[in-house]
Amino acid sequence: MPTALITGASSGIGEEFAAQLAARGHQLVLVARRAERLERLAERLPTTAHAIACDLATEAPALAGRVGELEIEVDLLVNNAGFGLRGRFSELPLERQAEIVRVNCEAVVTLTGAFLPGMLERRSGGVITVASTAGMQPLPYEAVYGASKAFALNFTEALHAELRGSGVRALAVNPGPVPTEWQRVAGYEEAGGEMMPGAIEADQVVREALDSYDKGRRSMVPGRFFRNFMRLNAVTPRAVKLAVSERLYRPKR
Ligand SMILES: NC(=O)c1ccc[n+]([C@@H]2O[C@H](COP(=O)([O-])OP(=O)(O)OC[C@H]3O[C@@H](n4cnc5c(N)ncnc54)[C@H](OP(=O)(O)O)[C@@H]3O)[C@@H](O)[C@H]2O)c1
Repeated sequence: MPTALITGASSGIGEEFAAQLAARGHQLVLVARRAERLERLAERLPTTAHAIACDLATEAPALAGRVGELEIEVDLLVNNAGFGLRGRFSELPLERQAEIVRVNCEAVVTLTGAFLPGMLERRSGGVITVASTAGMQPLPYEAVYGASKAFALNFTEALHAELRGSGVRALAVNPGPVPTEWQRVAGYEEAGGEMMPGAIEADQVVREALDSYDKGRRSMVPGRFFRNFMRLNAVTPRAVKLAVSERLYRPKR
């Protein structure tokens, strides 16, 4: 039975990855900070699922060792855990903003580096990293988050190219808005932010992501509206994108 390790499995898109990969017959390792949520999810799933409570901002380097103690080989790593903060860079807490980089970038590198050698040896498996459309241009008022997702996207696409012919896959998943706990954690309401049009549910994100992974794609945007919107975005001059997003994202309070 193949094993998938999913970070950020306690909520939203990660929880949906767990449900859909369990239905596909994967054994699971579920990772996040909220242990009780992971344990409740593990009980509900129709497969063997191990819950590991781990703060990826500080404990990512130790995670591979903890998985090793379970005598499990990871065939699919889903780098999904992540968060953002909405507001002016100069007004947001600096330590929390640095934590975005540790969870959304550093932990992605650490975990990929830990599990990739085994996949390469077996010539099978892969890495799915949840980046974001937020990483496809600079994003005023989510400056650190947008930059962290640009890192995740570029890292994963580069990896995809390096892995050609190895039997191992790498896919960057770039959702637009998805209603999850993400918006509350990012402080959307406090900043007077609204959900953008074209939002899709987490189950659609994961269904389309796994379909792209099966096809060996490099990168994908789930949902037709945002897929088309990002095509337009790709041919729009950077200065125009920056000016438009500054207006769109400017905090209303
Ligand atoms: N929702 C959107 O609109 C959207 C759009 C594009 C991309 N994304 C990306 O999609 C991914 C999943 O987000 P979501 O929408 O499902 O948000 P969510 O419901 O808030 O889930 C985020 C997950 O990340 C985990 N996490 C956060 N900080 C962590 C840490 N320090 N250590 C370990 N786990 C941590 C959380 O678990 P604990 O709190 O239990 O630790 C939770 O399971 C993120 O990378 C996000 O940036 C989201």
